[in-house]
This record gives sequence, C-alpha cells and structure tokens, in this order.
Amino acid sequence: MTPLNLRSFLIPALLGVLHIPACRAVTTVSVSATASHTIPTTLLLQNRAFQQVTPSDTSALDPWVAVNGAELEVIADTDPVSSALPNSLQVSIPSDATGSVGFSNPGYWGIKVDSSWTYNASLYYRFPSESSYSGTLTVGLESDTGEVFASNSTTIDGSQTSWANIFLTLTPSSSASNTNNSFFVAVNGSEAAGKTIDFAMFSLFPPTYKNRPNGMRIDIAETLAAMKPAFFRFPGGNNIEGQSFDTRWQWNATVGSLLDRPGRVGDWGYVNTDGLGLLEYLTFFEDVGMQPIMAVWAGYSLDGESEPEDALAPFIQQAIDQIDFVVGDPSTSDAAALRASLGHPEPFYLKYVEIGNEDFFASDSYTYRWPDFYGNLSAAFPDLTFIATTYPFDPVIYPTPPHYDVHVYQTPEWFVENAFYYDNFERNGTTYFEGEYASISTNASNLYGTSAEGRFLYPTMQSSTAEAAFMTGLERNSDIVFAASYAPLLQLVNDSQWTPNLVSFDAGKVYPSTSYYVQQASYANARDLFSVNVGDEYLPSTLPTENGALYWTISRNSTSNDVFIKVVNPVSDEQDVLFDLAFTSVASSGTLQLLQGSQNDSNTPEIADLVTPHTSTIATGQTFDYTAPGYSVSVITVNAS
Ligand SMILES: *[C@@H]1O[C@H](CO)[C@@H](O)[C@H](O)[C@H]1NC(C)=O
Ligand SMILES: *[C@@H]1O[C@H](CO)[C@@H](O)[C@H](O)[C@H]1NC(C)=O
Ligand SMILES: *[C@@H]1O[C@H](CO)[C@@H](O)[C@H](O)[C@H]1NC(C)=O
Ligand SMILES: *[C@@H]1O[C@H](CO)[C@@H](O)[C@H](O)[C@H]1NC(C)=O
Ligand SMILES: *[C@@H]1O[C@H](CO)[C@@H](O)[C@H](O)[C@H]1NC(C)=O
Ligand SMILES: *[C@@H]1O[C@H](CO)[C@@H](O)[C@H](O)[C@H]1NC(C)=O
Ligand SMILES: *[C@@H]1O[C@H](CO)[C@@H](O)[C@H](O)[C@H]1NC(C)=O
Ligand SMILES: *[C@@H]1O[C@H](CO)[C@@H](O)[C@H](O)[C@H]1NC(C)=O
Ligand SMILES: *[C@@H]1O[C@H](CO)[C@@H](O)[C@H](O)[C@H]1NC(C)=O
Ligand SMILES: *[C@@H]1O[C@H](CO)[C@@H](O)[C@H](O)[C@H]1NC(C)=O
Ligand SMILES: *[C@@H]1O[C@H](CO)[C@@H](O)[C@H](O)[C@H]1NC(C)=O
Repeated sequence: MTPLNLRSFLIPALLGVLHIPACRAVTTVSVSATASHTIPTTLLLQNRAFQQVTPSDTSALDPWVAVNGAELEVIADTDPVSSALPNSLQVSIPSDATGSVGFSNPGYWGIKVDSSWTYNASLYYRFPSESSYSGTLTVGLESDTGEVFASNSTTIDGSQTSWANIFLTLTPSSSASNTNNSFFVAVNGSEAAGKTIDFAMFSLFPPTYKNRPNGMRIDIAETLAAMKPAFFRFPGGNNIEGQSFDTRWQWNATVGSLLDRPGRVGDWGYVNTDGLGLLEYLTFFEDVGMQPIMAVWAGYSLDGESEPEDALAPFIQQAIDQIDFVVGDPSTSDAAALRASLGHPEPFYLKYVEIGNEDFFASDSYTYRWPDFYGNLSAAFPDLTFIATTYPFDPVIYPTPPHYDVHVYQTPEWFVENAFYYDNFERNGTTYFEGEYASISTNASNLYGTSAEGRFLYPTMQSSTAEAAFMTGLERNSDIVFAASYAPLLQLVNDSQWTPNLVSFDAGKVYPSTSYYVQQASYANARDLFSVNVGDEYLPSTLPTENGALYWTISRNSTSNDVFIKVVNPVSDEQDVLFDLAFTSVASSGTLQLLQGSQNDSNTPEIADLVTPHTSTIATGQTFDYTAPGYSVSVITVNAS
C-alpha cells in the first residue's frame, strides 16, 4: 500500500470544512467483538456436572439446593460417569420421606420460562446399591413460589447400577412473569424412601441460535450478528492463558462428547464448563458469517511462569493440532479427522492466528517463544498469517512479526487525544490489530478503580463517543490497522468481574450498550452506523485537528457510490460543519443515522434503550451544513459520483 500521509492536508479549526477530493483505495478494516471473557450463554444450569470442584466441600454443591428433606453431597464417585467427570451428586432420600423429594438449580441467576419454547433436559443416574425399587423421576421448571410451568416424568429402576441417560423435553404450559425460576428433579418420597441415587452431567437447553446443539442463546447471538461483525477473536484474551499452567485453555479438552470435557477453572474465578468448545465457537462463526481470529497457547500463564525453550515442543505440537482441527486435512491429521467425525469434514475458514496474549507481560521469554512458535506454525501452515502480542517492536523480536495485537484501556480523554495514534506509524509492512480497547474510567490516576472513583459500570455517551473519535483514526489508518475489537464483549450483570462491557445480559434479556451502537456504526466491512457503513475506499479530506472538538472520517463504496461521512462529537457543545464535496454530482438528500445522548447516559438493565440510533433523511448536495449535537456519532450516507 502507498503510505497515507493525511497530515499534510491543512486544517481549519472549530468549523470543520471537509473537502472530499479524489479517492484512494484502502484495506477494509474489520470491527468486531472479542471473546476475552467466556461466560456460559445458553446452558441454563450452573454447576451442571460438578466439574473442577472439591468433593464433600459444601461449596461444591452451589447453586443446587435440596427440596423436601433430600440429603445432597458431591462425591468423588467410585464409578464415575466418565474419567473427565469424576464427581457425582449423591442424593439420599430419608427413610421417612413423603411427597415430592429431590433438588433444584436456579440457573445462572434465573431461568427464563417461555411457553413458546421446548426445553431439552438430560441427566445421567445410577443406583450405587442394587434394589428392587422402581419409581417415577420427574424433572420440571417451577417458580420461586412453587408454581410448576412444565414437568415430564420417566421410570427409574433400582437395578440400574451402571450409568443411564435420561432425555426429557419440557414444554411450559405458560410463560413465567420473571426469571426467578428453577429446574427441579424429584422422586416420589414414599416410593423412594431410604434409597440413594447418584446423578451426573445435567443439561437443560432452550432452543439455540440456528438450533445448534450446545449452541448460543438466540437473543445474544442475534444481537452480535446484528453488528455484522467481520471476525471474532477467541478463545482469549486472558482466557487462553490460564491462571496457572494446569488451568490453561486446551482445545482438545473442549471437543467431542460433553462427558469427555473436564472443564477448567477459568481465569475470572469461576469454573468453565467448556460446553462452548472449539467446535461450537467455529460453528457459531460460520452461522453469523464472521471469521475467527484464533489464539494458541504460547508457553505463558498468568502466574508469570513461562515454559523454557527446551520444553516448548509439545505445546507447539498442541497448537499445530488445534489449527489442524480447524483447517487440517482429515486424511493426514488426526485432529482434522476428529473434526470430520464430529460432522464437519470441510475445513473452517481461518486466516489469522494469534501467538499468545499480552506477551508484553513476558517479553523476555517471548524473544524465544515467538520465533519457535512462529517458525514452526508458519512452516506447517504457510497460508496462515500470525499475530504477535508484545508491544510493537518492543522488544525487537525476530523474525519480524507481520502483525501486532495492541490493547488499550483508558479514559475518554485519552481516546479523543489519540485519534491520531497511528498517523505517524511507518508504513513498513507491519500491520496492527487493535484487539482490545475500551474507555473504562474518567480517573486517569486510577483507571481500574471502583465506580465511585470513576470506573464505568456501563459504557456512557462520553466513553462511547471517545471510542468513536479514536475509531475515526483507525479508519483513516486502515492501511495499517487491519482489524479492531472493543473488549470485553459480554457480561452477565448479576455476576460480572469487569466493567464496562459491550453487551450485558441477564437470564431474561440482552442490553446492548452505547458502545455497541458505536461499534455497529463503525468502519468494519459491513453496513449500520460505523460496522454497517463501510466503503472500500478511504476519501481524504481536510483533517480534524488533534486538539479540535470534532472528528470525522469519510469512505465510499465504489460500486454503489455511497459516501459515508462519519462525524463524532465527543464533547457537550454542538459543533457546526460545512461539507464541501468535490464531486460532479451529489444527491440532494441522504440518510442520517444519529446516536446522541448526554455525557453520562448509559443503557442499563433499568433503562435498556436510553440511547439508540435514529435514522432520518437529510438534505445534502455539493455543499451542505450540518450541526453535530453534543456527545454524538453521526453517519451521513449520500450518493455522489
Ligand atoms: C439479575 O440482574 C437483573 C438486572 O439487574 C435483575 O433484574 C435480577 O433480579 C437479577 N437476578 C438475580 C437472581 O439476582
Ligand atoms: C417428555 O419427553 C419426551 C422425550 O423424552 C417427549 O417425547 C414427550 O413428549 C415429553 N412429554 C411431555 C409431557 O412433555
Ligand atoms: C428475584 O430474586 C432476586 C434475588 O433473590 C430478588 O432480588 C428479586 O427481587 C426477585 N425478583 C422477583 C420479581 O421476585
Ligand atoms: C407416591 O407413591 C405412593 C405409593 O406408591 C402413591 O400412593 C402416591 O400416589 C404417589 N404420589 C404421587 C404424587 O405420585
Ligand atoms: C433438543 O432435542 C431435539 C431432539 O433430540 C433436537 O432436535 C434439538 O436439536 C435439541 N436442541 C438443542 C438446542 O440441542
Ligand atoms: C489434551 O492434549 C494434551 C496433549 O497435547 C494432553 O496432555 C491432555 O491430557 C489432553 N487433554 C484432554 C482432556 O484430552
Ligand atoms: C521449532 O521449535 C523448536 C523448539 O521446540 C525450535 O528449536 C525450532 O527452531 C523451531 N523451528 C522453526 C522452523 O522455527
Ligand atoms: C516499522 O514501523 C514501526 C512503527 O513506526 C517501527 O517501530 C519499527 O521499528 C519499524 N520496523 C522496521 C522493521 O523498520
Ligand atoms: C481517582 O482515584 C484516586 C485513587 O487513586 C482517588 O483518590 C480519587 O478520589 C479518584 N478521583 C475521583 C474523581 O473519584
Ligand atoms: C457496495 O455496494 C454494493 C451495491 O449496493 C453492495 O453489493 C456491496 O456489498 C457494498 N460493499 C460494501 C463493502 O458494503
Ligand atoms: C457526569 O458525571 C460527572 C461525574 O460524576 C459529573 O461531573 C458531570 O457533571 C456529569 N454530567 C452531566 C451532564 O450530568
């Protein structure tokens, strides 16, 4: 690419006059979301398989509770359901039991009960001691006041001393008015008095996005798909690294039967089921039409330990196997053959592989880890391109990385002031992935402090418009910034470890943030405010000033001749603009998509739609005036040739 040298255009202050002369093609920059935090999104039962808990410890039961006198204990089963799942729930029915006796699970801070859905419920059971018992086992959904919305029953038999699977569907007769509901499992107390039953691997799923097994929650998946994202960065972020070597993410622990997935202690203090495994991720990407940017574990975990160089070979091989699972040939690779056996013989699309995450925390060892991983992986996969994760060129590592992943969490002021961050970067072949960025606090001296100290709980119009100002710089420098993603992507509002996030949710609803609408509007290779309004050509204009109050970027779809003018006002005062479009013919009207709010406005569970984009028609022409309201992102689309 020819270097962009837009700084040579001169700049009127305050009143921005945008001259739009000749066009030049630029690389399309992709905006999307990142999977830096993995949160179960569809599976309804929390602690479904007692993965990675300490048997007998009472916390091993959380959040299961006994119903009507049953005694519950998580045990290390002498005959577990699988070697990956050594623990079972042992349920003892008291000898004087009567009525319905059993246990229940309140889900991930609630369960949505919808009468238009059919739920799939599944569990494994066995009797540790053989008996002549035969009785009814009932599963169902009930409210916290005991109203039963759905139930289904089957017969279980005391002669069943090996593990048996039960699959029952649940069709609620009515929808619940709130999500304070539980899944319950019960036996007839008088029939089962004195009996002990072991249970393992429960599963409860509503319908999923595109009806995929172990798939995504439909409302969350549709919210993400509506951004028209170009890519999804996964499986981390920190998620790949592990808090320790033993708890690092390993692809082969996340594929195949759920009984073969041990789960892992995740990096944010809760156990990951790994029900959302490598295949489920890849299937989701295909379903949405986005590409993966996939990380491989690169010999470093978050406790600061790096593997020595002479110990790297097995991890390089594991990374090769992970990539082969995605793109390999089933006739030459066992990992690819496994993919084929799981129903996807064709390779998935994969172009970018990231080697590690945030390896600026272990720069010393990255000087050998980068060359060893990059050397071996690029030899094995010459069609792929690899991303380094130290600070760009600091330290200098060899071979020179083709791409760097850059992360930044900062104040709104930082993002506005750094709208020109990439303008002076040398055009020397290296390109950049803005892999994690978010405006997280107004307190520059205590960015990661509490919300009382300035940390945002949810993106605000101040933080979101600041990110948008920064993003105008990413679009202007899209010849060297090839992709960008806000982080983190998702938070369950009832139990979150980090704020703010792009999209929040609880058991019943999804809450897209103001930053979500900015990302959707962004310059990615798609079409709505910045991801939906994308040209294939960047149009130089007079540039905004570094200390100005207004930021903009202009691109054009050279097929449709739609010109996308994105104007960001990250301060409270409105700003006037005169557009001067140097085209022969400019349509007399265009479309305005406007996201506007006051400084501290956030979309929250309490007021989910406080700020959403609005579309209207706007008078345009070769010259036209526009007033950008305070704290706004405007996208003006006008046809011009
Ligand atoms: C989860 O958070 C939502 C939104 O704040 C709230 O309405 C709901 O009551 C919470 N659920 C639980 C179980 O605390
Ligand atoms: C119970 O589940 C079975 C599947 O195992 C299903 O065929 C049946 O329709 C369900 N019955 C009710 C009442 O939902
Ligand atoms: C749901 O449960 C939560 C947590 O116990 C409670 O705060 C909330 O008030 C309940 N909501 C309703 C509608 O009962
Ligand atoms: C429980 O079992 C007893 C003894 O078989 C029977 O009389 C009773 O009706 C059963 N209760 C229910 C709710 O099925
Ligand atoms: C639920 O079970 C049905 C019947 O086996 C199956 O067709 C469907 O895909 C399952 N749904 C999910 C989300 O797994
Ligand atoms: C995954 O593969 C590694 C070797 O690459 C092996 O050590 C580990 O036990 C495997 N894990 C599972 C759960 O299969
Ligand atoms: C592959 O990795 C090994 C370390 O395991 C290293 O010695 C070797 O140089 C690497 N090969 C290439 C081509 O980089
Ligand atoms: C490429 O440009 C970057 C950013 O300006 C610079 O730090 C780096 O040293 C350059 N790399 C080479 C190999 O010249
Ligand atoms: C910013 O954080 C510091 C602690 O580092 C705290 O003393 C100060 O009060 C915070 N500022 C605001 C405005 O909350
Ligand atoms: C450009 O416009 C054409 C015609 O409307 C459309 O097919 C194409 O997808 C657009 N390109 C982009 C990058 O949006
Ligand atoms: C937004 O919040 C900050 C910090 O609490 C406050 O200083 C400012 O006045 C608020 N802005 C508006 C418009 O209320």
